[in-house]
Order: sequence, then C-alpha cells, then structure tokens
Amino acid sequence: MAEIPRELIADLFARERERFAAEHQGSKRLHERAEESLLSGVPMNWMTRWPGDFPVFFERADGAELVDVDGNVYADLCLGDTGAMTGHAPAPTVAAVNERLARGITAMLPTEDAAFVGEEMQRRFGLRDWQFTLSATDANRFVIRIARQITGRPRILVHNHCYHGSVDETVATLVDGEVGPRAGSVGPPVDVGETTRVVEINDLDALERELAAEDVACVLIEPALTNIGIVLADDGYHERVRELTRETGTLLVIDETHTLCCGPGGYTAAHGLEPDFLTIGKPIGGGIPTGAYGFSAEVADRIIANTFWKEADVGGVGGTLAGNALSLAAVRATLAEVLTEEAFERMIALAERFEAAVAETIAERDLPWSITRLGCRAEYMFAPTPPHTGVEAAAALDDDLDALLHLYMLNRGILLTPFHMMALMSPATTEAHVDLHSEAFREATAELTGG
Ligand SMILES: Cc1ncc(COP(=O)(O)O)c(C=O)c1O
Repeated sequence: MAEIPRELIADLFARERERFAAEHQGSKRLHERAEESLLSGVPMNWMTRWPGDFPVFFERADGAELVDVDGNVYADLCLGDTGAMTGHAPAPTVAAVNERLARGITAMLPTEDAAFVGEEMQRRFGLRDWQFTLSATDANRFVIRIARQITGRPRILVHNHCYHGSVDETVATLVDGEVGPRAGSVGPPVDVGETTRVVEINDLDALERELAAEDVACVLIEPALTNIGIVLADDGYHERVRELTRETGTLLVIDETHTLCCGPGGYTAAHGLEPDFLTIGKPIGGGIPTGAYGFSAEVADRIIANTFWKEADVGGVGGTLAGNALSLAAVRATLAEVLTEEAFERMIALAERFEAAVAETIAERDLPWSITRLGCRAEYMFAPTPPHTGVEAAAALDDDLDALLHLYMLNRGILLTPFHMMALMSPATTEAHVDLHSEAFREATAELTGG
C-alpha cells in the first residue's frame, strides 16, 4: 500500500497555508480585531480547531453553500456539524420563525406548536412523552438526572470515545482499562471513575460485566459512534444491549443527535430499536437552538411518581428558555417541511455517491484508508479497514493528514467537519457539490502518492 512521506505532507501543508492566508485577508483582519475582545479571537473555543492560522469568517450561508467575508464560496459538507443538516436557512423554518418572532418569542407558556411537535416526535421515534431543552447537551444532562432519580442508582455507562456534549459524566475514557477523564477535560467536578463506566462499542462481554453490579442507572450511547470517525455497531449488537439492560434493570438512552442522519426517525426507527429514552438536538430546529428528550409510557409513569412538583423548577431539570415558542415553531416547520422522508432519500443517495467516489480513489491510489457511511453522513479514515471500536478509531486519527486535507478542501471551496474527515448531506446539497469534493480528493491523493 502507498506510503505517504511525512515531509511531503508538511510541504503541501505549508503551500496550502500560504494560499489560505492570501485568499482570506478579510477573515484575517476580522480575526485580528476579534483577538482584542474574544479569547483567541473566536466566540467559542473550538472554532480555533479549523486548519489555517485563523478561522474563516462567514458572511452568509444559504442551502448547502456558504460565502465568506472575502467572497469565497464553499460547498458546505460540514453543515454546522449537523446543526445545519437541514441546509442553511431552510425556507419553511425561516418563514415560521419570522412569523413567530413577530408574535412573541418566549412566555413561560406553551403554544399550539408544542402539541404538534410532541405528536410528530411521537410518530417518528415511537416514544410517548417529550420534553424540550435548548441543546442536546441539556437533553442528555436531564435524562441522566432523571434516570438516577427513578432507578435510585448512582452511575451511568457510555461508550469509549463517545461524545454527548459537555455533560460531566460523559467526559470519560478508558486509560489502560480504567475509567479516567478524557484528555483535555476541563475542571471535572468529581472523579469520573465514581460516576461513569466505560466500555468499547461492540464489546458485549465488557457491557455484561459492567452492568452486573446493577448500580448503573442508564446506558447512554449513540447507536453508532460518530464523533471519533464513524464506528458502526455489529449486527445483533443493539439487540443484546437491549437484553442486557432489561435483565439488569438499566435504562437505555439512545442519543440520536447525529444519527438522525439515518432517516426521519433516526437510527432508532431505521433499525427498530426500543430505547427507554431518546435524546436529540442540533438539526431538528433547522439551526434555531433546541434539544429534546422522549421516553416510554412506563418511564413517564415513573417520572411522575418521582417528581416533587412543587419544586419542579429548581430540581436540576429545566431552563427558562427551554421549550420556548420560537424554538418550537422552528422544530415544527423543520420536521413537517424540511427533514421529510423524501429529503432523506435524496440525502442518503448523495452520501452513497460521495462514498463510492472516495472508495474508488482510495482503491486506485492503493491508500491504507477506508470510508464508512451512515445514512447521509460519510467519513474517510486513515485505517485500511473501518475501525470496530472507539480506541481503534482514535488510533486511526492522523493530525497532519487531517489538517492538510481540511485546508486543501477549504482552498478548493469545500468545508468538511473539523476534527475529522466527515461529510454530511442536506436537502439542498447537489451532485455537483459532492463531485467538487470527489475531484479535490482525487487531486489531493494524487499529490500525496505521486500519482
Ligand atoms: C451525539 C451527540 N450528542 C450530543 C451533542 C451535544 O450537542 P450540543 O453541543 O448541541 O449540545 C453532540 C454534539 O456534537 C453529539 O454529537
């Protein structure tokens, strides 16, 4: 298989970095200005993770395209890391939001949209009761509290190399078989070893062992890992997870925030999963902040029996703006008119096109890389066979190649999700957007392999 010399990666990166700087002078100026008032010149720390010496400042984004302050146009395959899986500023959502803006945004009272949205979430995901938050992080945080409350158990269990937002109990990883804080964990409130058990996805023996003590309130998992590259579950994995959680009285939480890419009802509906809770956020509001969690009728009864209603507003589950009228208007329009069954069919077909083109080039160039697709999301990884666990996926990361390819794509008008080589399709994405990437991928790999 083709070996890629490290010096070549470094040389190409230096060339692309110069090109980036030359073509993004407006972003550079704005970044310099922002450095005077924002930490590292960005409104949120992870925006520093884009390659290049400063981030691109964007001027507008519409559908699957984004325009930066220098007038560069991009095919956006990052789509706000799923927050804009609907495409940017989807017309039905924008119309509903505009209409709602003029009629009141937040009032500590429900609107008719809330009832519609509850019914639609029920129809899509098969869970009876729903609550709304402002982010997927909050949905996960609240579900963990509720699971602890109704089971009387202290711990949770997650997959190794999971990501469920900035939820204290989930910022954990396996270090030499022991649970410890994930590298970079900021100020953990308690030792995660006390709150959390961690197992590899696809390791059913470990799961059985870690649930045996019956002290785990809930298993919180994505049905496939999507935040360390994509790692798919083995056939039969989820059936056995469900059996083991039921046998041990452990609640099962499926986080569909990213795996909604599998279809209108996410991986859960596509694969017939039967979670006790389902959490979600990001795309369901078409870009307007929102999150949600749903639960079965049985769980609802347990929640009702365990809620101290008089103090429900201060019990650790809430948020003044959670379930606000604006968010729910956005969710209603997005679910009813944007993330439809037909939209998913087209989006998944585009991801298949992306996957086929990348796979063909990898084979042609004899690169030790692979590509994995999950619904309308696809990711190439620097390992010859798709990783089977979180730790294998982490081992396949290559910071130098990752930075080079992200910058290479940026310079050719393509945005890929930072942190890994992931591409997402929206209802507004076209074959031309996919093909732009396929061509740039051919060009980049030709340079890397001397082909
Ligand atoms: C699976 C999953 N759950 C939850 C979250 C948290 O979402 P947010 O940052 O919008 O709260 C993320 C974010 O990437 C995610 O990937």
